[in-house]
This record gives sequence, C-alpha cells and structure tokens, in this order.
Amino acid sequence: MSRFEGKVALVTGAASGMGKAASLRLAQEGAKIVLGDVNEEGLQQTAADIDAAGGVAKAVTFNAMEEESCKALVAAAVETFGQLDVVVNAAGIGGFYRLDELTPEVFNRFMSINLNSVVTICREAMPHLQATKGNIVNFASLNAKTMTAYQTAYCASKAAVAAITKCMAQEFEEHGVRANVICPGGIETPMVTQMRFPEGMNRRLLMNLQPLSRKGEPEEVAALVAFLASSEASYISGEDIFIDGGARSAM
Ligand SMILES: NC(=O)c1ccc[n+]([C@@H]2O[C@H](COP(=O)([O-])OP(=O)(O)OC[C@H]3O[C@@H](n4cnc5c(N)ncnc54)[C@H](O)[C@@H]3O)[C@@H](O)[C@H]2O)c1
Repeated sequence: MSRFEGKVALVTGAASGMGKAASLRLAQEGAKIVLGDVNEEGLQQTAADIDAAGGVAKAVTFNAMEEESCKALVAAAVETFGQLDVVVNAAGIGGFYRLDELTPEVFNRFMSINLNSVVTICREAMPHLQATKGNIVNFASLNAKTMTAYQTAYCASKAAVAAITKCMAQEFEEHGVRANVICPGGIETPMVTQMRFPEGMNRRLLMNLQPLSRKGEPEEVAALVAFLASSEASYISGEDIFIDGGARSAM
C-alpha cells in the first residue's frame, strides 16, 4: 500500500506508543515523516526504525510546553520536505491527581502539553495544509466524553482537544482541510503501563475503568490514523472516532 506516496506528515509524540506506531505506519505507506517529541533518545530510535524499513524520516526534538518550540517544529517540517500534507498530534501526558494535588503548575502542564500545543501546531500548519488540501488527526481520549475521578486536568484537556478539532474542521472545510479526532481507550503504551495514581485514592471511584478482555495495540490505532489521514476518508471531517475495544458502549 502506498496511500501517502509524495506526502509529508508531521507526527508529535513520535518517540513512543501510538505516535511512534502512526509514524511507522505512515512511513511504510510512503509518507516522508517529521518526527517530533521531547524524548530525544526515543525519537532517534523511531527515526532509525523507519530508516531500517526503507522509509524517510527527520527527527526534531521539541517541547510541547513551549509555544516557540511548537512553532519551530512546524517550520522545520516545511523547511525539510517543502510541504505538509498531514499533521498528527499524539504527544500527551496522563495521570490521576486528587483535586488538592491539582496545583496551577500541574493543571497548566496538562493544558499546555495536551491542548495548547495542539492549537499552536494546527495554527502554524494550517497555511501549509491549505496549500496541499491536507488534514489533521488529533489525539483526544475516551476521556473526552467519559469523565473519571482524579482526572480533572486530563479530561478537561482531552474534551477541549475534541472541541477545538471540530471547530477547526468547520472553519477550514471550505479551504479543503479536514480535521478529525481519535479517542483511544485502553491502549498498551508506556502512558498506561506507567500511569500515576494518587496516594489514598478511593478505588471504588475508578470502577468505570473496567478493563476489557484485552488492551489495544498501538498498531491498531495507527491503522485508524492512516485511514483518516488518507484520501479514503475524504468525506470524513469534524468527527471524534472512538477506538476502545467497545469500552464506551459499556459505560
Ligand atoms: N494509551 C491510551 O490508552 C490512551 C488513551 C487515550 C488517549 N491517549 C492519548 O494518546 C496519545 C498518545 O499516547 P500514548 O498512549 O501513545 O502515550 P506515550 O506516553 O507512549 O506517548 C506520548 C508521547 O508524548 C511525548 N511527550 C510528552 N510530553 C511532551 C512534551 N512536553 N513535548 C513533546 N512531547 C511530549 C512523550 O515523550 C511520548 O513520546 C496521548 O495524547 C494520550 O493522551 C492514550
């Protein structure tokens, strides 16, 4: 399959989990990839994996907490490959915090990484996406719709990512740019396996996080990213697509 031959994709969170899997998948299907992440070592590994598979990738270290760094990432992508067809915003942080632990610093870290960086990257990328009639795939979460105790910051940031993506889809529809949001749940990645839980939490309040019979694989999500980013999804925009093994239907 080469649905992305001649296309350039920018993927954040590319050092790990679903961002990495999406990068590998898009590269495998012919896209040149700009890989963005704060984790330099992981980023280099993803670039090496793409290279070993015969793909083309450029690694750019960036910090989603810094506006200038987000802008520089988009600029580096366009400078390196001359165009931008697809933007995938997968960088993010998770974690459970009691309300009394939710200092402005903690709350702002969630907002800055999970939400503000997405706005900045989309805003900077939009003129280039208009030029190619490209599209955006943002990562929200099952928690964009399903709220959980101790996830005030995470749920707020992800519900907002779903909202802003739909707003952008409306605003740029007439310019030929699509924007969709993926809402994963229970995917086996370092974010989930290394999840932070607060001291003294009431486990009963997390009963709605009932695990299904299995976790999802990052590659299963990468397949959805590739579909949404491809011309096969040419009439899909402004959608939030849940990929959670059926978890939401049981909630
Ligand atoms: N794993 C799940 O079940 C799940 C469920 C719902 C939503 N998500 C979302 O999917 C996306 C991908 O998550 P994942 O599960 O693959 O997690 P992951 O931890 O494997 O990957 C997240 C990546 O984001 C990067 N990142 C974190 N802070 C950054 C910063 N300041 N600047 C640049 N990069 C930064 C990390 O270095 C990491 O490579 C996230 O937005 C996450 O919120 C995951």
